[in-house]
Amino acid sequence: MSARDPFIAHNGFTLPAQGLGTYRFWGESGADAVRAGIESGYRLVDSAFNYENEGAVGWGVSGAAVDRSEIIVTTKLAGRHHGAERARTAIEESRFRLGVDAIDLVLIHWPNPGVDKYVEAWEALIAARENGTVRQIGVSNFLPEHLERIESVTGVRPVVNQIELHPYFPQEDQLAYDLEHGIVTEAWSPLGRAGDVLNEPAVTAIADARGITPAQAVLAWHATRGSVAIPKAADPAHQAANLAAAEIRLTDDEVASITALGRPDGRLFDADPRTHEEQ
Ligand SMILES: NC(=O)c1ccc[n+]([C@@H]2O[C@H](COP(=O)([O-])OP(=O)(O)OC[C@H]3O[C@@H](n4cnc5c(N)ncnc54)[C@H](OP(=O)(O)O)[C@@H]3O)[C@@H](O)[C@H]2O)c1
Repeated sequence: MSARDPFIAHNGFTLPAQGLGTYRFWGESGADAVRAGIESGYRLVDSAFNYENEGAVGWGVSGAAVDRSEIIVTTKLAGRHHGAERARTAIEESRFRLGVDAIDLVLIHWPNPGVDKYVEAWEALIAARENGTVRQIGVSNFLPEHLERIESVTGVRPVVNQIELHPYFPQEDQLAYDLEHGIVTEAWSPLGRAGDVLNEPAVTAIADARGITPAQAVLAWHATRGSVAIPKAADPAHQAANLAAAEIRLTDDEVASITALGRPDGRLFDADPRTHEEQ
């Protein structure tokens, strides 16, 4: 078992236990949801070129009554932008859309191994970090083989690996690998998109016993296991309840009972990094 803090990367970059997912946050209402989230306490905000919402996220960040320096703004490089030159200009375009001098965290969205240009993409992220337009660089949906390859070619290790992770797909091996290497794991779709998982007896029993909601029980499971959950919540009541859950730590038995819901086909959709091709 590693003695590392799961929320601190190998280079000291520190993340909060929870961030705000933003998929389908668009336009004025999307910007309002981001602003409200930040003002209610979120300091890590997700986004992606492919969500077509960097404008709304940037607008929400700049409109929030919280100092910009306190907020970690994230975006992701799309699959069609992996080539060296395209990656360079796409990162610049993301920065303009977000309206920030420097992007706090840029991730490669998917490895797209069939195209096999993720090393070039990683080199572009390194160059952006070196020229100061990006502060921290990481990846999403990377398996150990992808992580090891980019580090062996460039000597640079990602600070974050954002992966599908929820009770139906607990990713014990990837979580342990990331922790061992000082890579902070962020969990996407941490609530399983608020589907059947929230009605699972293992989840509702913990919620009932603790006087919390099933969603809070799942988010407490993430925090206790050491993954940064990034639930998407437009509803202000959900935003507040979710943040409160990040402070709750479950017992080992409670964690084990939720982890036991995992199953090999637990992915929400066809999102195996070995085969998924993000455009
Ligand atoms: N890297 C990748 O490949 C990747 C892939 C997918 C997603 N992501 C990121 O991960 C984020 C989260 O994933 P997701 O949006 O797919 O799913 P999710 O966060 O698991 O679920 C979102 C759903 O849960 C609801 N919800 C939030 N808090 C709740 C609560 N306390 N009680 C009941 N329902 C609650 C939301 O409703 P309301 O909005 O109405 O509050 C929304 O319908 C995305 O937004 C995106 O930023 C990344």
